[in-house]
Amino acid sequence: PLIFNPFTPDFMSDPYPHYAELRRHVPVHEHPGGFWMLSRYEDVSALMRSGLSVEQRHVAPGPFRDAYARAGVTDEPRLKGLALLDRDAPDHTRLRKLVTMAFTARAVNAMEGEIRSLVDEALDRIAADGGGDLVEALAFPLPFTVISRMLGMPPTDTVRMRTLTHTLMRSVEPTTDPEVMRAVEAADAELFDIVGEAVDWKRQNPADDLLTALITAEDHGDVLSRDELIAQVTMLYVAGHETTVNLISGGTLALLRNPGQLRLLRDKPELEQNAIEELLRYDAPVHNSRRITLEPYEVGGHEIPPGSFILANLAGANRDESYFGPDAEELRLDRENARRHVSFGGGMHLCLGAALARIEGRVAIGGLVRRFPGLELAGEVEWNGLLSLRGAARLPIRV
Ligand code: HEM
Repeated sequence: PLIFNPFTPDFMSDPYPHYAELRRHVPVHEHPGGFWMLSRYEDVSALMRSGLSVEQRHVAPGPFRDAYARAGVTDEPRLKGLALLDRDAPDHTRLRKLVTMAFTARAVNAMEGEIRSLVDEALDRIAADGGGDLVEALAFPLPFTVISRMLGMPPTDTVRMRTLTHTLMRSVEPTTDPEVMRAVEAADAELFDIVGEAVDWKRQNPADDLLTALITAEDHGDVLSRDELIAQVTMLYVAGHETTVNLISGGTLALLRNPGQLRLLRDKPELEQNAIEELLRYDAPVHNSRRITLEPYEVGGHEIPPGSFILANLAGANRDESYFGPDAEELRLDRENARRHVSFGGGMHLCLGAALARIEGRVAIGGLVRRFPGLELAGEVEWNGLLSLRGAARLPIRV
């Protein structure tokens, strides 16, 4: 029988043929590791809109639960457990409302000028060096700096923050490795302290920024508690940069591997907006999302029992030929329904930062393409080894 196996040597460099096999042969896959995986567009988008739980505590005893217990982790990390991404209604509804009041379209659009200057500075450095590692030079620092500045974080040890958020992100991976879980727990505790100090500092030093807006957000007398604030800020940090990195690096790589499409984008700059949607579809920055059943869940003739952990394969769903047509595996920047991708999820947890991510992707990738007519790959891509946040750890380019 066909089993989802991300541990084959070729999986990281190209998981898409594996997703295609699953989609064709076992679209509702009961994995021996104790979880289910859905990979058809229709099933994945229905799951995203289903309102199923995201709270880890509902996972039934079994391989997943046991691994947590072995690692000495009794529940989800404190920060994650409180972040709106990990909460069900009605807590989610309340938190999302308060965060949305601060994270406004106006605040996002106001960042575009700053994003342009950050990209220009990075491109100047790349030009001076004749190339380099795109991840280190642009894809990573851009979203990290953007979210830090938007929040108005007091000067913190950015290198430490990067390491800690990177570790915390491991917790969204379908891992059962006790080492990883312990590292996540330690990072969680340290981040709690660092961000907590930042929140306390900001209360004394309010300014026109996202952190102040989160502190003061109020809905009929309801405000975010200190713990809740810390959790939402950390979530914005993590969700705000670990994902956009993959859009910038993965999008650039897709163009470099499809020179005809790269040429098309140069000839028709008006395609830029649709091109970003197609790049998001073609190589989803977040490959999987997860949900937990509280009741039996019917899908594709199967009944998934309560307490099950379901992975929604967003990246595979984006390449479903029964939805996107026979050329679904191809990059086509002028694809009409590119925007129908599920890369930002769907339903009540639909990505809150999609507009910001789209601006960052457009300015960074558009800037690279316009500035460097001779842009090319300069060596092997190194992959980050993650399943859900699969992306390049190093992407050598020459300009
Ligand atoms: C949620 C993807 C960038 C903030 C999500 C979800 C996905 C996603 C798939 C839904 C997860 C689920 O339902 O299980 C992406 C991608 C990005 C990106 C592909 C970049 C290309 C950002 C940015 C921010 C952000 C820049 C903020 C600065 C959030 C938040 C949530 C979320 C707060 C939780 C929303 C909720 O639970 O209601 N994102 N994201 N994301 N994203 Fe993004």
